[in-house]
Amino acid sequence: MTYKFVLFEKVGKVGIITLNRPEALNALSEGLIQDLGECLERCEADPTLHCIVLMGSEKAFAAGADIKEMQSKTYMEAYMGDFITKGWEKVSSCRKPIIAGVSGYALGGGCEIAMMCDVIIASETAKFGQPEVSIGTMPGAGGTQRLTRSIGKSKAMDMCLTGRIMEADEAERAGLISRVVPVDKLREEVLLVAQKIASYSLPDVMMIKESVNRAFETSLSEGLRFERRLFHSTFALEDQKEGMRAFLEKRPPVFKGK
Ligand code: CAA
Repeated sequence: MTYKFVLFEKVGKVGIITLNRPEALNALSEGLIQDLGECLERCEADPTLHCIVLMGSEKAFAAGADIKEMQSKTYMEAYMGDFITKGWEKVSSCRKPIIAGVSGYALGGGCEIAMMCDVIIASETAKFGQPEVSIGTMPGAGGTQRLTRSIGKSKAMDMCLTGRIMEADEAERAGLISRVVPVDKLREEVLLVAQKIASYSLPDVMMIKESVNRAFETSLSEGLRFERRLFHSTFALEDQKEGMRAFLEKRPPVFKGK
């Protein structure tokens, strides 16, 4: 299947989605978000895919929601159409891991989409920001929430209230991203991480993702209980028997995803 605003390719067990609206720095128009949502649904449904990579161009991961499209929207249109919901939530609700590979601008909705992913790997040129305040509005796709949980109140306030850009090295120090790599190595490094994850047992990987995300939704004791129950359930997997047997037999495991 081909899309107008995203490119899709499969490399082994990894699905690579590339945002492709270069003339608008990958601004997240309704068309782009619809393509992204459909492509993610297809990746979820494809049992041969274990991990998803989401990238933009070298200049921009995404420069935010499309300002031209939303400038004249009325309150009623925004509210009744549940603006910034349909399609967007596919990124955060996807059960398979998504690695964001960010180069250049990740602003507004672009930063928010990156934060909905599970791991953010950035090139040294990456620029993160929530500049909505500078265009008369505020973050609407999780910026005030995910950024605060990720980098703490003071830095999140600083970013959201001033609209300033955070460069890759500061983003790494602050814990927003997991690693910084040279710009010409970004795709290669992101793919290596995705392929590593994809080489493991898919149910294990999905349970780990679900469990880490639970840390943001619940108390420590409930989170620990949730983790323990999922851990117990891995003993129902053939992959647990195989993984541990392979360790004891000093050979690489052969996971079947069940
Ligand atoms: N929406 C629509 N079009 C956009 C866009 C956006 N968010 N960002 C860039 N573009 C378009 C520009 O209008 C321009 O198009 P034209 O050539 O037709 O004029 C093209 O992309 C290239 O952009 P620039 O000429 O501005 O490129 P630059 O290199 O000079 O600047 C930039 C790059 C600093 C990223 C600048 O484009 C910019 O500030 N963009 C807007 C960033 C922003 O405010 N994002 C937040 C949007 S609101 C939001 O996302 C709400 C939410 O929480 C979901």
